[in-house]
Amino acid sequence: MNERLTCIGCGREYDASEIRYTCDCGNLLSVERDSVTVDRRVFDQRRTSREKVDQSGVWRFREAGLSVDHGDIVTHPEGLTRLYERDGILFKHEGENPTGSFKDRGMTVAVTQAKRLGATTVACASTGNTSASLAAYAAQAGLRAVVFVPSGKISGGKLAQTLAYGALCLQVRGDFDAAMQLVRAACDRLGIYLVNSINPFRIEGQKTIVWELLQDMEWQAPDWIVVPAGNLGNTSAFGKALREAHAAGWIDRMPRLASIQAVGANPFYRGFEDSFETRHRVQAETVASAIRIGDPVSWERAVGAIRSTNGLVEQVTDEELMSAKRAIDRMGIGCEPASATTLAGVRKLRSAGMMRQNERIVCVLTGNILKDTDAILKNVPPDQIVEIDPTIEAVERAVS
Ligand code: F0G
Repeated sequence: MNERLTCIGCGREYDASEIRYTCDCGNLLSVERDSVTVDRRVFDQRRTSREKVDQSGVWRFREAGLSVDHGDIVTHPEGLTRLYERDGILFKHEGENPTGSFKDRGMTVAVTQAKRLGATTVACASTGNTSASLAAYAAQAGLRAVVFVPSGKISGGKLAQTLAYGALCLQVRGDFDAAMQLVRAACDRLGIYLVNSINPFRIEGQKTIVWELLQDMEWQAPDWIVVPAGNLGNTSAFGKALREAHAAGWIDRMPRLASIQAVGANPFYRGFEDSFETRHRVQAETVASAIRIGDPVSWERAVGAIRSTNGLVEQVTDEELMSAKRAIDRMGIGCEPASATTLAGVRKLRSAGMMRQNERIVCVLTGNILKDTDAILKNVPPDQIVEIDPTIEAVERAVS
């Protein structure tokens, strides 16, 4: 294996075949390798390949992800999501992944690694998307999946999807942060492989969101990449992806990263406000249940991502994000509430003059519109849904 695990704090290195998520000093780990020398044209050539690994938008970039025998890879395949342009803004729709969220990109790598390490059971804490993705990939790999979700706090669609793929679902009486603490302790105690984004192999997979969108743009870097921020796995992955793409010469300038939180779940925004002097924790509450997270695990990695991209963190109210969701839905694209923090953030940053009208902006839509149908049905205008008798007169009245 070319990869090693490197502590992001003290720099200590561990073998990548070791099962560990943090350094002995307590800091998070990062998957590192000697510099990547692949020419980006190799990735472009793979676009027309018939090989299964090339048809995955994750494994297409394998030299800079995880070096592994092709036969060991657990892939649906995933990725190859569309990049839409609407009203001058680009939207990379990660809700078009096999289980309807970006999580599949990290999960294909983490579950591949789980199999290689000989794990038989895999676990995560989740607000619903990670659990659905884990359940699907574990089913494909023949592993047992155990998911920890905050009881009553995740959407019905995500819960049903997780159960359908066959995972054991532990509904924790508490919030996501409590479920996260519990799954870490449970994995340590019971020898279960943890695949939350604290697991550095998840980050390796999620980097490909950025690489694929750069490839979609023919390697002309945009000015901004905008992403929702909850547990901060994506923010961390995007920073690493941009640093590596720049170092490898795939892009010649760095886009800026904008991470957007909901006002009611904004510890990272508070950190940004005080130049990350303090690690903030909050009691999280927002309509965007995917990012109802008060104590994100990837804090330090994400701080590095914001700093190294000259990025920023913004917050938006539930009203602002739901208004942006309606706009994205009415463009015919659609997304779940958490994803719409991106457009809400762009609107706010533009009106504050932080983003300019002529700048190229890519919003990453993280989840599919059908992930949270309750959030839609609760907000339908009363005259848009009408119950009628089965008569032509009733139809005439309704449409007039
Ligand atoms: N958008 C969606 C749709 C999500 O499901 C999540 C996280 C995020 C954004 C935030 O990404 O955590 O990398 O900052 N969902 C996790 C889950 C927590 O369990 O599904 P992040």
